[in-house]
Amino acid sequence: MDLEFSTWPEIERYLKRRTDIIIPIGSTEQHGPMGLIGTDSICPEVIAKTISETHDILVAPTIKLGMSQHHLCFPGSITLRPATLIAVVQDVVRSLITHGFTHLFFLNGHGGNVAPVTTAFSEIYTDHSLAQDQASVHLHLWSWFSGTRVRNLSDLSFGEANGSHATPSELSLSFYAFPDKEKREELSPAQSTKTNFRDCYDFKNNFPDGRMGADSSLATAALGKKFHEFALEDFLEEYQDFYQV
Ligand code: NI
Repeated sequence: MDLEFSTWPEIERYLKRRTDIIIPIGSTEQHGPMGLIGTDSICPEVIAKTISETHDILVAPTIKLGMSQHHLCFPGSITLRPATLIAVVQDVVRSLITHGFTHLFFLNGHGGNVAPVTTAFSEIYTDHSLAQDQASVHLHLWSWFSGTRVRNLSDLSFGEANGSHATPSELSLSFYAFPDKEKREELSPAQSTKTNFRDCYDFKNNFPDGRMGADSSLATAALGKKFHEFALEDFLEEYQDFYQV
């Protein structure tokens, strides 16, 4: 079930059946010379879309801007400050709690969101504890690429060449989601094996074309179909512990 295409009476009825919701969250940032700037939003969104069509679980609109300061030296990248993202997540959570939602599952597509989103959760839990408000809210952040099946498929398909940014895994899934948007580009083999960075200048010095150890050219839409299938299985396993499907 998709929040965007629902009416308020439909949501009212949903809340009588169940009180959980999925919120896809991604980013708008460069993904190397052939990766789409929307990759990190497209990936969780296509997974969430399938869930909304096959299960009675409500899916919220995707939060498409994330914490991407380290990508700002590449044209097109947009970042929220960590404090802004923390505020956005808190406002989204507070809005949904108002209606009676108790279990909020953030389906994430971008590693840079993890620290701010987790901090936002801590802020919300702290408010409840300080106010001695016992209304229980369950918040969970889970990245689609962190499940066992997806990680095994990445290892098996790409090994070390998966790298950590503009990975062939995420590009495959985005090309599967939007086959007519697939791009191909000649890529230089030189790749830094570093995984740390500071600001966007340091990032660009170490990773001049935007990829981090990833051979993006290995991405295919056919593999993306497999990633989609495995990510759904990983998700359902994770969700089972969070709220009864
Ligand atoms: Ni990404």
